[in-house]
Amino acid sequence: MSTDKHASYWINTSKLPSFEKLQDETETEVCVVGGGIAGITTAYLLTKKGYKVILIEALKLGHGTTGYTTAKLTAQHDLIYDQLISKFGEGTARTHYHAAMEAIDFVRETEKDLQADFQMSVEPAYVYTDDKKNVRQIEKEWEAYEKLGIPGGLEDEIPLPVSVRKAVRMDNQAQFHPLLFLQAMTEYISSNEGRIYEDTRAETIVEGEYATVKLKDGGSITAKHVVIATHFPFYDFKGAYFARLDVARSYIVAGKSPYTYPGGMYISVDNPSRSVRSAKDNNGDTIWLLGGEGHRTGKGKEMKEHYSNLRNWGRSKLDMDDFDYNWSSEDFMSLDSLFYIGRLTKRTQNLYVATAFRKWGMSGGITAAKEITSLIDDDKSLYSGIYDPARQDAVKGITNLAKNMIEVGTELVFGKVEKTEKFIDDLKRGEAGKIRRDGKLIGIYKDNEGIVHKVDTTCTHMGCEVHWNDAETTWDCPCHGSRFWASGEVIEGPAVKDLKKAD
Ligand code: FES
Repeated sequence: MSTDKHASYWINTSKLPSFEKLQDETETEVCVVGGGIAGITTAYLLTKKGYKVILIEALKLGHGTTGYTTAKLTAQHDLIYDQLISKFGEGTARTHYHAAMEAIDFVRETEKDLQADFQMSVEPAYVYTDDKKNVRQIEKEWEAYEKLGIPGGLEDEIPLPVSVRKAVRMDNQAQFHPLLFLQAMTEYISSNEGRIYEDTRAETIVEGEYATVKLKDGGSITAKHVVIATHFPFYDFKGAYFARLDVARSYIVAGKSPYTYPGGMYISVDNPSRSVRSAKDNNGDTIWLLGGEGHRTGKGKEMKEHYSNLRNWGRSKLDMDDFDYNWSSEDFMSLDSLFYIGRLTKRTQNLYVATAFRKWGMSGGITAAKEITSLIDDDKSLYSGIYDPARQDAVKGITNLAKNMIEVGTELVFGKVEKTEKFIDDLKRGEAGKIRRDGKLIGIYKDNEGIVHKVDTTCTHMGCEVHWNDAETTWDCPCHGSRFWASGEVIEGPAVKDLKKAD
């Protein structure tokens, strides 16, 4: 097993097949853009139904958010059911619960069908608090479980050796290895005439009865249906997704503890939040995965501090010593807390979108794949349309809409007056800073070989100022979460163009 300290445990313990880049013009029935859990599961389901499918991924399969998750496969999406009942009623809350439970069943069935091992285990899931002011919220969540008939309990303690005032437990949840799941489906798709391409970034779409996905480095795919499963939709202006998605990063460290893992998956609602689950390494030893420290992308303290905070917590609470892995991920939230799954807009009948899974993309991605497959194959929603992106979410999430607009407006106005402190000569290897030249901000990174990379720090999506992420050595945009390598190439959108090089 690799001991790369700055790596995802899932990526280091799986081997997805590699695929070539597409630069030609081609056509198909369904083009799926995005090689994470939502995209690959959609491609798998449609291939099984006999559709001709092309799936493209801008980087490598599973190397977006799916490879950097905690991989809890659960219907316990933080505290959600009390909120869903208040905003939408019991029917919607119940549908959301059953959709997630069906996602768990789907993984179990796929494991059998493909004769694979996804290291799946059934676990109870807990949301807990040690903060007096959050106790009532936990109690209200349990009351919501009781109304909906969700099996579980209200607890005064949890099996972990941490201090707790109140917790709500949901039974029959699961955890698994997400990339073993993707690997098995990918092998099925490619051996059943599905075509998969990596290093192939979609840049835009020309709409029509047959839509054409234009590729960044040349070439295109014309298809009857196009599924946008790129986490943040790369084609985001139709449907105003840039105004309807909030973005946050969070962090995970993994290592061993002398304690015996008591079973279960855990998440706290306190600030900073903490998430815990286990996995087995190749020697059969238990690895503890500790997550949390969420914050808006591109904002806050030096990013490396988030990893140190998690390690310190693991040392003090769980006697953890050796941390083999650390990684981070990005999540998008809708205005009203429900996913956006379905037609991109009311008017774009053959473009579909899957996004806003909050931090629950394992069940959310599978729900999206099932829903979009049903819309394409049968023109029917499996979930009574509760995830339809054309719903009136701005009414239910007016506070979040206002907050997003203020955040973006502030960044657009004040991002550009950021103080510059570093000069190139002051930078040590591995450090970055900004200078101002002719009124423009230039981001400078001196890499470990001493090579200096200079970029215009204006985000190519809508013009906000990107900020340095010292933990990942990337430029991150606080407005909608686009991320770029230190040398300016786009990693994840909504931006599709690289940062401009600067002199
Ligand atoms: Fe939208 Fe940067 S991601 S402006």
